[in-house]
Amino acid sequence: MRENGGTIALADLRGYRAIERTPLRGSYRGHEVVVLPPPCSGGVTLLQMLAMIEPFDVRALGRDSAAKHHLFAEAMRRAFCDRIEYLGDPAFVSMPLARMLERKYLAGRMADFDPGRATPSAMVRPGLGPRESTETTHFSIVDAAGNAVANTYTLRNGFGSGVTIPGTGLLMNNVMDDLAAKVGEPNAHGLMQGSANAIAPGKRALSSMTPALVFRDGRLLLVTGSPGGPTIINTVLQVVTNVADFGLPVMQAVAAPRMHHQWLPDELAHERNAISAETAAALRARGHKVVEKGSQGEAETIWIDPKTGLRHGAADPRLPDTKAMGY
Ligand code: DON
Repeated sequence: MRENGGTIALADLRGYRAIERTPLRGSYRGHEVVVLPPPCSGGVTLLQMLAMIEPFDVRALGRDSAAKHHLFAEAMRRAFCDRIEYLGDPAFVSMPLARMLERKYLAGRMADFDPGRATPSAMVRPGLGPRESTETTHFSIVDAAGNAVANTYTLRNGFGSGVTIPGTGLLMNNVMDDLAAKVGEPNAHGLMQGSANAIAPGKRALSSMTPALVFRDGRLLLVTGSPGGPTIINTVLQVVTNVADFGLPVMQAVAAPRMHHQWLPDELAHERNAISAETAAALRARGHKVVEKGSQGEAETIWIDPKTGLRHGAADPRLPDTKAMGY
């Protein structure tokens, strides 16, 4: 066997480990159904289909009837569409499993079921809609003359205050929660608020936004920043050190899983795969409370090669629709 990308090497076989996973549990007409979770798609897809057909009197339809085969085919096409869109290896993709298995969602999935007519598959789309980030945005720009912009903007809480200015298309933000409404209490980000940031007339809110330009020997090296409330600061810390200390190529510096600590809650949070089980154990032995959390920030970053002056854009892979572009 050869050790290249196209063949299976002995090390691949040696390195393979079976993973014990917690089964998924669902129900169908009073039965408990226990199945495999991803990366097996069978369990999720079966549970989806059972929930889709449960409202129908399948027995009354008859086992070989066209009505039953029609119902089953319609459930199958919808569940397979979701399977193809959402499911994969949990080590690589985050999957909306809880939402996919909600009874209400699955009833909605069958809302356009027509007992007399097949729904063309072209009309069936993944049911959960596009993944919408909970964050607003950061962008990094360097123009032809070398001017650089690191821009983070904030709406807070989905659509900000939920108010638009008629005729302008402008959404009003909700950064009042960045001021301490109550000193000593956490805000919606779970961030503790001190008296220095207590609410007062005319006072501007303490922001965690960290758009950053990093220079080396007087020359621009990095343009970076991120959304993500208080995690922003630690995201930028890790992007900068991934480049400055560890010499990672910018795409890896941005993509590498991150960790976060914000004093209170007193916990060391981390993205999946940021901290190995061994490292987590060593951190716990030092007294840390280590907790895995979801995705942390979206650090759209530009690195300028000091040798060639070439600009390398890194679109954070945490979001599917980010882009690095050059003109
Ligand atoms: O300025 C702050 O710290 C908050 N308004 C959150 C900022 C933020 O997350 C930026 N983008 N989402």
